[in-house]
Amino acid sequence: MISNKMQKLVKNNSVIREMFEEGKKLRKIYGDENVYDFSLGNPSVPAPKKVNESIIKIVENTDSCFLHGYMSNSGYEDVREKIANSINKKFSTNFSYLNIIMTVGAASGLNIVLKSILNPEDEVITIAPYFSEYNNYIENYDGIVKTIKSNESDFMPNLEELEKSINSKTKAVLINTPNNPTGVIYPLDIIEKIAEIMNKKEKEYNHEIYLISDEPYRELAYENIEVPYITKYYKNTFIVYSYSKSLSLPGERIGYVVVPSEMVNSSEMIDAITIANRIIGCVNAPSLMQRVIAECLDEKVDIEAYEKNRNLLYEIVTSSGFECVKPQGAFYLFVKSPIEDDKEFCRIAKKYNLLFVSASSFAYPGYVRIAYCVSHDMIERSREAFKKLGKEFINN
Ligand SMILES: Cc1ncc(COP(=O)(O)O)c(C=O)c1O
Repeated sequence: MISNKMQKLVKNNSVIREMFEEGKKLRKIYGDENVYDFSLGNPSVPAPKKVNESIIKIVENTDSCFLHGYMSNSGYEDVREKIANSINKKFSTNFSYLNIIMTVGAASGLNIVLKSILNPEDEVITIAPYFSEYNNYIENYDGIVKTIKSNESDFMPNLEELEKSINSKTKAVLINTPNNPTGVIYPLDIIEKIAEIMNKKEKEYNHEIYLISDEPYRELAYENIEVPYITKYYKNTFIVYSYSKSLSLPGERIGYVVVPSEMVNSSEMIDAITIANRIIGCVNAPSLMQRVIAECLDEKVDIEAYEKNRNLLYEIVTSSGFECVKPQGAFYLFVKSPIEDDKEFCRIAKKYNLLFVSASSFAYPGYVRIAYCVSHDMIERSREAFKKLGKEFINN
C-alpha cells in the first residue's frame, strides 16, 4: 500500500503532465499542424554544438573507469573550480571550488538545500505565482509552505506582506528570477529591499533566515537586462542553478548549488549539502555531464530565438484582446484569464486546440501560463485560434 503522503500526490497528479497527455490526444485527432500546445516548459532550441562535440571528445579521450566512476558527493574538484572561476569573472564574486556543489539539476539542488535547513514545521515563504513543485520539495522535509502574493501590476513581490509574514518559524524565503511563470526579473532595488527586510528579521528572531534563489532561467534574460547576483546582497543566500534551460539539457540533470563563505557556519553547511546530495539518493551529479559542462562554460543557447517567440506571441495575445505583462526573461507569458475561473478558460481554449496551463497550479488563480519554448512557426499558425478565442470573450 502506498504511503498517505504519496496517495495525496497520486490523486493530484500534475496538471502540466495531464495537459501533455491531452496534447497527444488532440494531435492524433486533428494532426500536429493544427494543435497549439503551449503547456510545457521544455526548451525548444537545441543545445550548443559544443555540448555534443565535448561528449564525443571526453568519451574518446578519458579512461572509462575514471569517466564513469563515483567521485566526491559534491562533484569533481576541477569542474567546480572552473565553475567558481566563471561565476567570479562574470559577477565579481570570490568563490572557490568549495563553494560549489554539483547537483542533479535545480530540482535536486532545491531538495538538498531544504533537506539541510528544515526541521519539521519550519516555514518556507514562497511568492505566488510560483513553480508548484516547491510545495512537494518543502513537504518532502516536513516544512510548511507559507505563500505571499506578488503585486498584480508588475508581479514584483509584495514587500510589506513579506515583512509581515516572516516570524520565528521562518527558515527561508524562496525566490525565482527570471520567474516561472511570469517572466519578470527582480531588479537590484527589489533584491536590496528583500535583503534589508531579511537582515532585520534575522536580528529580531536571532537565527538565520535563508534566501534560496532558484535560478534555472538566469541566462534567459532579454534586452541585456541585468539579473543581480544575490550572494552579493545577502550573505545567507543559496544559489540553485541548472543547465536545463541555459544549455537546453533538461534530460541530462545537471546543475549546482552555491553556498557562499560569508554564510553563517558556511563549512558546516557545505558538509550538510554534500551529505544531503548523497542521502536523498542522488549520490553525485552525473559524471560525464560534469565534464561536459566544464568544457562549455562560455557556451550559450540561441536566446534570440526565444526573444523572437516572446515578441510574436505577446503581439498575438495582446492584439487578440488579452492582458499580460511583457516578460523580460524565461519563456512564459502570464496572461489574465478573461473570466474568473482560469480552469474553465483553459477548457474553452481547448475548443480552438490551444493548450495553456491554469495558474491555479502556480497558486495564482485568475491567470494562465502560455509557454513560448515552441517553434516560431507554431506561434504564427496559432494566430487565428487566439483571435477566435479573444472574440469569444472580449468582443462580446
Ligand atoms: C522555477 C523552476 N525551478 C526549478 C525547475 C527544475 O529544473 P531542473 O530541470 O534544473 O531540475 C524548473 C523546471 O522547469 C523551474 O521552472
